[in-house]
Amino acid sequence: MNTKQPTDKPEIILTGDRATGPLHLGHYVGSLEQRVALQEIHEQTILVADMQGLTDNAHNPKKVSSNILNVVADYLAVGINPLKTTICLQSQLPALAELTMYYSNLVTISRLERNPTVKNEVQNKGFERSIPAGFLTYPISQAADITGFNATLVPVGDDQLPMLEQTNEIVRKINSLAGRAVLNECRPLLSNSPRLPSTDGKNKMSKSMGNTINLGASEKEITAAVKSMYTDPNHLRVKDPGNIEGNVVFTYLDAFHQDKAYVSQLKEHYQRGGLGDGTTKKVLEECLQDMLRPIRERRAEYLSDKAQLIDILAKGSQISREKTEKILFDVKEIFGLNIF
Ligand code: TRP
Repeated sequence: MNTKQPTDKPEIILTGDRATGPLHLGHYVGSLEQRVALQEIHEQTILVADMQGLTDNAHNPKKVSSNILNVVADYLAVGINPLKTTICLQSQLPALAELTMYYSNLVTISRLERNPTVKNEVQNKGFERSIPAGFLTYPISQAADITGFNATLVPVGDDQLPMLEQTNEIVRKINSLAGRAVLNECRPLLSNSPRLPSTDGKNKMSKSMGNTINLGASEKEITAAVKSMYTDPNHLRVKDPGNIEGNVVFTYLDAFHQDKAYVSQLKEHYQRGGLGDGTTKKVLEECLQDMLRPIRERRAEYLSDKAQLIDILAKGSQISREKTEKILFDVKEIFGLNIF
């Protein structure tokens, strides 16, 4: 799959997040930072994917509904500007649900079952015996999200590449039915930064596993998270040489500390011996506290005015409704269904 960086031509960018929890540092390095930069040059829409969030949380819908505004506040707190980026709510764009219905006829169950991301999630969520139909088919709904805006570029993590592949398969089928290019094929835009490990070093950061540092984390939560961070289990005494490979403290310092030369120095010192985990953690803690303090404060301020957040989401959804309805019309036209 082509993963080249954006060219000079402004792209139509569509990306999204399931509204199943507040966003965390993994989202920050993986995509939020990038979106803040992209909004300056491209036509960018961010979709709060509440319907997709329900595909595995329908029995606990509050988990989704109660996080919608949290996610919007997270966006704004890191610098996504609603005047430059359209922020919209998936459930308020009925054209996306309709597109999903049309596309469903072009995708086989076995193709859905082969999607590696869905396969993984089915295992993790214990869905092996009975998969909700909406969960199995969410890649089709995600294809509707992407094509509903006719997006050309989709900033995502590598776990989402199978979704983009499925999207492009649908695009090709639609275009071949139409006999012309009605929908754009999309390209993924992967982050340059490596995926951030969880604080325990065992997994990727995941809101469902509770091993994250949220963007809105309190000072105390940050302190506790850094204290419990996985380092080198064989580095027992300060004077011993330590290993920086897989040492989460150094991975985070690489990701967040501004002074790269200083981090190199710390790494050398640690590997030579004579630098304790207490010290490296202190450096990291200070760095994260400084970075997250303004984000936490802005986030709290946004959340104190829910009406304003809802207004941003409603305005973005209105703009997006118009765009997605136009695409729906074009797709219905292919099936000969714009009867009246
Ligand atoms: N599946 C994405 C995730 O879990 C969220 C998402 C929904 C999305 N619709 C999208 C991402 C469209 C990119 C484009 O993170």
